[in-house]
Amino acid sequence: MRPVPTAEPAAQLQQRKRTLPWAGRWLAVLCAVALVAACNETKVQPADPAASGELAPAQSASASLAAAVPAPWLIGADEPRGNAQAGAKLVADFECGRCHTGREIKPIRLESHCISCHQKVMRGGFDHKPEHVRWKENVVHLTATPSLRAVGRRWRYGWLVNFLRKPHDLRPALVQTMPQLALTQQQARDIATFLTGDFPPDPTADAHAAANLAKIDHGAGHTLLNDKGCGSCHEMSGVAPLKGLNAPEPGKHETRPAVILAPDLRFVRDRFRPGQLTNWLKQPHKLKRDTPMPETPMSASELDTIAAYLLYARLEPVKPHVAPKPLPLLSRRVGYAEVAEQVLNVTCRHCHGNPDDAVGDGGPGNTGGFGYRARGVNLTSYKYVAAGYLDAEGARHSLFEKMPDGQPRLIAALWARHAEVSGSPVDGLRGMPLGLPPLKAKEIQLIASWVAQGRPR
Ligand code: HEC
Ligand code: HEC
Ligand code: HEC
Ligand code: HEC
Repeated sequence: MRPVPTAEPAAQLQQRKRTLPWAGRWLAVLCAVALVAACNETKVQPADPAASGELAPAQSASASLAAAVPAPWLIGADEPRGNAQAGAKLVADFECGRCHTGREIKPIRLESHCISCHQKVMRGGFDHKPEHVRWKENVVHLTATPSLRAVGRRWRYGWLVNFLRKPHDLRPALVQTMPQLALTQQQARDIATFLTGDFPPDPTADAHAAANLAKIDHGAGHTLLNDKGCGSCHEMSGVAPLKGLNAPEPGKHETRPAVILAPDLRFVRDRFRPGQLTNWLKQPHKLKRDTPMPETPMSASELDTIAAYLLYARLEPVKPHVAPKPLPLLSRRVGYAEVAEQVLNVTCRHCHGNPDDAVGDGGPGNTGGFGYRARGVNLTSYKYVAAGYLDAEGARHSLFEKMPDGQPRLIAALWARHAEVSGSPVDGLRGMPLGLPPLKAKEIQLIASWVAQGRPR
């Protein structure tokens, strides 16, 4: 999703850091710039004694930097490793393979793979039936996801654990996010241990590389990003906009995979292993065979300047998502047909389907999936919507039962998605539509009005 970067005063930055879930872990900020810094002396020693001498100036240079820029690669540095075998099983149980590919992820057949099937629709693979040609226009979401190859070579383990627990938007041009899954911290550790198994973490080497990059003058970094054309795919929110991205025509959505899949470069410091960063910039394919990121010829000093800029450039905070104000209920009559046409049939029914239409698979929101047990929510017809949902004990309840704040559960789930995207998920209620952009206030108004009018047919 594409947030709008705006400048905010530094005082607000501090405050927002505490409110954003993925920033809330910047605990180790005061712990200077690298793991080798004094406060961690007893825990982590540089592997090579000669290197520790070399690091001394970096420590002082970066100590002043650390006052302004926290050391994000310390986030989750103390996260214990999990059990890789358990992680392998969890990856299967949570069906990561329905949306991702990767060496560690078992291939899943087309009929169940959300991304591959949508790609086939877009390629015209179902055009032999005339009534299916219109499908191409309707598929907007889940047309591309990043492959999960070479995870351990690229990202820090601690970041990965925290992201799996509390995913947040990484890619400005990708409309959906990684869905919030019902994973415990231990399960996230197990999965992260499994996915990084090919290339185990080495925080000491990363700390050295980060400290070395801190010595580099990154003043020319922004100009270099522009000159090298990085902005034709990437944004870096929090710094002056990069040149080059040709946004799609108004009303059209971006479909080029290399653009959709290019992460916002502000997150590099949160997640990328500093020890691998210049290797990645130099030859991304060497680290990850199937990456859509092209190789850009650069000198060693250009590589270092860009890497240093990505890690240390001053970032302005990004304006958080603010949920729109609820609109007053409509006074005109709203019938089920309108609600179905405007909302339920557009996105909801694809995860809350009719098992009879799809060889028993009612979608993750009905018969279960992505690690969620069967909740029995079928949103394909008036009768089924009225049939409600299953609670943890398997008892049926109405989707219109009132929550403590007086809102019907169905409406509360739609606002809960706004809350998730703002960084403050609602306890015990998953935001809907799962992992997709929150509904507009007008769409929620329509459903809320229908419910308030006694749900006419
Ligand atoms: C419904 C589809 C879906 C499922 C199921 C899913 N993911 Fe994702 N995942 C996504 C999308 C979409 C993104 C990209 C999010 C973004 O860029 O903001 C993503 C991103 C990620 C990332 C970051 C990758 C990168 O290149 O930035 C990791 C790691 C990840 N997922 C792991 C998992 C694991 C592990 C599972 C199973 C436990 C899983 N995902 C299940 C859709 C899914
Ligand atoms: C067998 C092929 C196939 C599979 C597998 C599949 N879809 Fe779809 N999906 C479609 C088609 C075809 C449409 C368009 C249907 C229409 O226009 O009525 C669609 C539309 C959608 C839409 C609404 C359009 C949009 O882009 O917002 C969503 C949401 C959706 N699918 C989610 C999923 C999810 C989540 C999964 C995996 C659990 C999945 N789909 C798996 C074929 C598939
Ligand atoms: C054609 C589009 C494109 C161009 C041009 C491009 N990149 Fe990328 N870049 C990507 C994509 C796509 C990814 C995600 C790769 C993957 O997951 O396989 C990526 C990943 C990255 C990452 C890792 C980000 C992370 O959070 O994991 C960095 C750093 C990066 N690019 C920097 C650059 C720089 C610097 C330039 C200019 C020299 C550049 N890119 C040019 C598409 C591009
Ligand atoms: C990508 C798949 C997906 C899409 C799209 C989706 N849902 Fe869901 N939905 C789920 C899953 C999975 C659950 C079960 C979540 C849980 O058990 O916490 C669920 C649960 C629900 C619940 C029960 C919530 C609760 O905790 O009691 C409601 C209500 C709901 N969905 C409504 C909707 C509506 C309305 C839409 C369309 C605007 C929608 N969903 C779109 C996957 C989806």
